[in-house]
Amino acid sequence: MILCIFAPQNSKMPLTTNKFDINPVESSRINSVDFDNLVFGKTFSDHMLIMDYKNDEWQQGRIVPFGSITMHPATSVIHYGQSIFEGMKANKTIDGEVNLFRPEMNAKRFALSAKRMCMPALPENIFVDSIKALLDVDRNWVPNNEVSSLYIRPFMFATDPLVGIKPSSTYSFMIITSPVGAYYSHPVRVKIEESFTRAAVGGVGRAKAAGNYAAALYPSKLAQEEGFHQLLWTDAVEHKYIEESGTMNVVFQIDGKLVSPSEESDTILRGITKRSVLEIAKSWGVEVEERPVLISEIIAASNNGSLQDAFGVGTAATLTHIGEIGYRDQLFTLPEIKTRELSNKLKAYLNDLKLGKTEDTFAWCHRV
Ligand code: PLP
Ligand code: COI
Repeated sequence: MILCIFAPQNSKMPLTTNKFDINPVESSRINSVDFDNLVFGKTFSDHMLIMDYKNDEWQQGRIVPFGSITMHPATSVIHYGQSIFEGMKANKTIDGEVNLFRPEMNAKRFALSAKRMCMPALPENIFVDSIKALLDVDRNWVPNNEVSSLYIRPFMFATDPLVGIKPSSTYSFMIITSPVGAYYSHPVRVKIEESFTRAAVGGVGRAKAAGNYAAALYPSKLAQEEGFHQLLWTDAVEHKYIEESGTMNVVFQIDGKLVSPSEESDTILRGITKRSVLEIAKSWGVEVEERPVLISEIIAASNNGSLQDAFGVGTAATLTHIGEIGYRDQLFTLPEIKTRELSNKLKAYLNDLKLGKTEDTFAWCHRV
């Protein structure tokens, strides 16, 4: 059966409505899912969205049953890695509505990533419309409890069947969704990385390009073998400045101030969670500094007791406290979680916004 729907209108952005063909599943898999024991990224909802790009234009999007896709062995993404993605979450509010957090920011970043990877831009309104249309079909998959959410993974990859290096002329944009619990269920232990590099100035660090994550796997694995959960990447030239973690941006609290590596250089992913957390903190009168952050300053602050907090911020990770920082052969332990009043309050506020428990004074939430 093929149905057509119009994606719901967004109240804040002028959107042109898009039509999507919908081929619904015959029977949902939802009853086989244990929503109380979700492993991050392993369970997928009933449907996915596919929109192809060919002849220099985006084709009609379609929502189809979730399933495998076939590929020509020469498909260029496999060989040359033209592939970008986004990560977002939808929550069920206390009123039972589906809530999407700042999707227009992801749409903008997706367009920026596409440009850097020489891929076609997906109009930002179509990006947001597509997510809303898929969520509308799979709204029952948005978990009902406060600690889980529906993780949304939009992605685009090159599809030309050609073993020749050039930008592909065809692409697929897809969205899959996955009900998830917490990405990190406890404070993390991170290692300051001084040998390997995630991103260099002029590279692709600011893009959410698949290859960035592939390149980080080996150094991360070495750190995991030493007992760390994640790396704290440093600048590629001197390894003197802290940049970000593998799955999240990083924020420190020193003498009451929130300090975070500046996103001016093109080596750091411009995180939507970090932007939101810093905006909330500023609105509460907290002093915020975004600037280059020296490793030595963090070590000194830890030694003299002025380092009150360190935490990661990201869609999957939400706000995850850093418990310990490894630097060379030393381990620096951060204060107990219960003493970290500001980050605990920020975490709760962000969560309450997503669950519709607090007034959305920033106008960040989109009800679907
Ligand atoms: N940095 C990296 C490398 C990430 O993978 C993520 C996650 O998306 C972030 C930062 C945080 O970005 P956001 O808050 O937009 O999810
Ligand atoms: C996210 O937070 O959405 C990410 O992309 C991080 C990770 C799951 C790759």
